[in-house]
Amino acid sequence: MPSLISQPNTVLKGTVRVPGDKSISHRSLMLASLAVGTSEVTGLLEGEDVLATAAAMRAMGATIDRLGEGHWRISGVGVGGLMEPDDVIDMGNSGTSTRLIMGLIASHPITVTMTGDASLRGRPMGRVTVPLTQVGASFSAREDKYLPLTVTGTAMPMPLDYTPPMASAQVKSAVLLAGLNTPGITRVRERVATRDHTERMLSAMGADITVTEEDGLRTVSLVGQPELRPISLDVPGDISSAAFLLVAASIVPGSDVTIENVGLNPLRTGIVAALQAMGADIEIVNERQLGGEPVGDLHVKAARLHGVDSLPVDPSTMIDEFPVLFCAAAVAEGPSRFTGLEELRVKESDRLAVMAAGLKANGIAVEELPDGLVVPGAGGRVPGGGRVETHLDHRIAMSFSVLGQMAEAPITIDDARPIQTSFPVFIDLMKGLGAGLSL
Ligand code: S3P
Repeated sequence: MPSLISQPNTVLKGTVRVPGDKSISHRSLMLASLAVGTSEVTGLLEGEDVLATAAAMRAMGATIDRLGEGHWRISGVGVGGLMEPDDVIDMGNSGTSTRLIMGLIASHPITVTMTGDASLRGRPMGRVTVPLTQVGASFSAREDKYLPLTVTGTAMPMPLDYTPPMASAQVKSAVLLAGLNTPGITRVRERVATRDHTERMLSAMGADITVTEEDGLRTVSLVGQPELRPISLDVPGDISSAAFLLVAASIVPGSDVTIENVGLNPLRTGIVAALQAMGADIEIVNERQLGGEPVGDLHVKAARLHGVDSLPVDPSTMIDEFPVLFCAAAVAEGPSRFTGLEELRVKESDRLAVMAAGLKANGIAVEELPDGLVVPGAGGRVPGGGRVETHLDHRIAMSFSVLGQMAEAPITIDDARPIQTSFPVFIDLMKGLGAGLSL
């Protein structure tokens, strides 16, 4: 396991781009694989998670070629055209690939066995197998809910009207993707709106998909068995990757960083509002549309952050950004209290427990709650000097790489490998801005 050492170096300065959005990259490969014709995607994230999606869609019949850096061509099989792979498909670390592809398989008469790494094999799949069983698929899973898992889709799928019990774009998307090869109208009702990349992309590809708001529910209705047009898509930069730079540049005094071409879907921008509520100096410039999604450039300058008692946004709009926000809170002036975050316990790691352990190891006396963390703010540099266990979680590794830039003694991250899943150029990009990172 390559460990990574993070310590202060100099101010962070520069103008950069982060790799393509992970959620949009996954969906572009999956949906283009179901289109009639050939799609081209540029700016695709070439992290391990997205490569797992590409391999799985290839194994089910799509023709997927890499033409150049981030430039991919996909020839689809048409809705209903997925074929049975002749081997187990390995989803690596990727929950999004696993859950969304399970949705696709559910309405095809094929049998597929999926596995993944130790992190993914520990993540609950019941949240998708329950609704997809109602579609007509059947599952055989380890302990009924974990990978390895075998799914057998049905030739006679039923359109669902489903209200997920938790806020989850993966669950919503799995049900909608099952609805693609299902006659009739599939509906998903959300109590809390989650990222809508699936809805936007399906609409751009010609599917009949509508969204209504009623009685506090956001209802997505998809008419089944559309013919999907191929897409030509330029994937915006991933705000979940940009978040590490936003925090790093906010906390290291004297920093001034611009991140160009970042996806600013309003269901993803919670981190910007949360940091601003803590006093961050972030300006959004050059706002425009790219591939059916809003994008812009983020200009961030160092600021004195202060702790917060509550956030001005719903956690679902920044669900992947809490680990790095906890690091921002550790440096801020005064304590912060974050609650309502029980979903963080079922991410690539139990992010409440793993963040609490990593912060404590570095001299920060956090209090772990069942659904959140209370983080005392140091009002400047934190002690550091500890070793962080990443538990195969890319965002833990990157969050502590950021915190180390404001630590008295170096922070050691036990395993840098997981960073490859979502942000392969992270270390070089951070070093290029001035960060002190060494493998
Ligand atoms: C994702 C949804 C979120 C997020 C994940 C990507 C997606 O997961 O944490 O990184 O692309 O749909 P949940 O649906 O479990 O909240």
